[in-house]
Amino acid sequence: MIKISPSILSSDYSILGDELKRMQDCGADMLHIDVMDGHFVPNITLGAPIVRCIRKCSTLPFDVHLMISDPYKYVPDFVKAGSDIITFHVEADSDVEKTVELINSLGVKAGLAVKPKTPVEEVYPYLDKLAMVLVMTVEPGFGGQSFMADMMPKVAAVKAEIERRGLDVDIQVDGGINGTTIIEAAKAGANVFVAGNAIFSSDDAAATIAGFKSKADV
Ligand code: DX5
Ligand code: ZN
Repeated sequence: MIKISPSILSSDYSILGDELKRMQDCGADMLHIDVMDGHFVPNITLGAPIVRCIRKCSTLPFDVHLMISDPYKYVPDFVKAGSDIITFHVEADSDVEKTVELINSLGVKAGLAVKPKTPVEEVYPYLDKLAMVLVMTVEPGFGGQSFMADMMPKVAAVKAEIERRGLDVDIQVDGGINGTTIIEAAKAGANVFVAGNAIFSSDDAAATIAGFKSKADV
């Protein structure tokens, strides 16, 4: 199932609640919340207290992308704040297995992400316990970067592995997704598309999201 997840990293944080409502009205399937600690990535965004506050502004699933060094420590806070899917990086310092199990034990869906230089095979040992794999299509840290088409073989490889095992795991791509790159990513096997700049800088976000959905239907 195709899902579009606008990244609020590109939103106007002074009116964050309104931006969330607007995305829901424009047809978003979930809301992508980028959490950066200034350590795992060279940028700082927001934490669980803000997620808790904006939870009341939307009924859409919160797709929380943790770009932090110690996800294990902070997972409970993000669950309590109202996350629906928590994705963390295989490159982070926390024990991956324990962190996946912690997320699942708290009744939230677990996602595992790989940075561009990390082989996607690193997620294979955990695939059976995941709801989603995130293949980063930019170096994490900032919005508005260019899509790395050379990540598509990773998307295709993990898609084949998921099918081989008969699993129901979403494949998300994040970074540089627009009306052109979404087609490439969908053809490779992705079904969940994060887009920040392309949606928030658009004059007509509803048309952009609708266009993405039809283009991703390959
Ligand atoms: C980057 C973030 C992305 C970012 C995508 O580290 O994980 O979610 O917001 O932004 P665009 O779509 O503008 O590349
Ligand atoms: Zn993200």
